[in-house]
This record gives sequence, structure tokens and C-alpha cells, in this order.
Amino acid sequence: MIDYRHSLDGITNEELHGFFAGWPQPPSVFKFREILKKSFAFIVAYDTKTKNVIGFVTAISDGIFAAFIPLLEVKTEYQRKGIGRELVRRMESRLSGNYSIDIVCNHELESFYADLGYTSLSGQAKRFPKSLS
Ligand SMILES: CC(C)(COP(=O)(O)OP(=O)(O)OC[C@H]1O[C@@H](n2cnc3c(N)ncnc32)[C@H](O)[C@@H]1OP(=O)(O)O)[C@@H](O)C(=O)NCCC(=O)NCCS
Repeated sequence: MIDYRHSLDGITNEELHGFFAGWPQPPSVFKFREILKKSFAFIVAYDTKTKNVIGFVTAISDGIFAAFIPLLEVKTEYQRKGIGRELVRRMESRLSGNYSIDIVCNHELESFYADLGYTSLSGQAKRFPKSLS
């Protein structure tokens, strides 16, 4: 069973391993835990059978106007089961009342977000990979 949780209580660092697949400089599990804890909101998808976190989503927000979803990931072996969509839907409920929810994604995921009601905008971004090491 997949349990959607808003807290890390009872979740060990071992259970948080395996995310940021393919990132050149993924954050350590300790940093990952901090990212979750310091986010405005986060939700983890927890497999109660294997006792592992298998997906997560984070949001940063002022709580009134703007919200951003900087991170969303489902572990490869759990993908295409509706978990990513469920994480976004649940985060939207958590963020309800805000004017905007923005997400930056690669082109291939535009249809994933379009199905959830998102539209494409142009934008700019700057990244500092060394800050994660
Ligand atoms: C993007 C991601 C979170 C989707 O999670 P998921 O649990 O596999 O998504 P869902 O099962 O809820 O997908 C629902 C629908 O979205 C679409 N979709 C999902 N992943 C897709 C992908 N990689 N490319 C294109 N469409 C996709 C499909 O239409 C899918 O329905 P279907 O399986 O019936 O065809 C997951 O692929 C992932 O973690 N990717 C790596 C990290 C990443 O890119 N994160 C997003 C940052 S913006």
C-alpha cells in the first residue's frame, strides 16, 4: 500500500535513499532531509510493504500569492502507476488559496503537467550545482 505522508517522523535516512536519479551532483541524504524539512510543504509516498520512500514532492511558497514546485520524483520501478500525478494533486490541495503554482520541467514532461491543467510559459533559470555537494 502507498501511504502519502506530510511528516518524516519514523522515516530513516536509509528509507530516503535512491532519489535524484541521474543528477551529476545529487544532494546527500542528510541534505535531502533538510530540503524536505525546510520546504513550505512536502509529501512523501511511502510503500508500507517494502518500507521505503518511493516518491516525493516539495513546494516553496509565501502562502498567499506564489507557490513553486521545485522537486517531484518517483523511483523508476514505481513510475507509471499514477503516483506522480497523485503527489501533484495532493500538493495542489495543500497549496489551495495561492494565486499561482509554477513548475519548471523538461519538454518531455509538458504533457504530464498539461493533463493536470498546467500551461506552458517561457522563463529563465540559473543553477548552482556545486551548492549541493
Ligand atoms: C515525472 C514523474 C514524477 C512522473 O511520475 P509517475 O508516477 O511515473 O507519473 P504517473 O504514473 O502519475 O503518470 C501519469 C501520466 O503522465 C504521463 N507521464 C508520466 N511520466 C511521463 C514521462 N516521463 N514522459 C511523458 N509522459 C509521462 C503519462 O501520460 C502517464 O499516464 P500513463 O502511464 O497512463 O501513460 C517521474 O517520471 C519521475 O520521477 N521522473 C524523473 C524526475 C522528474 O523528471 N521529475 C519532474 C521534475 S519537473
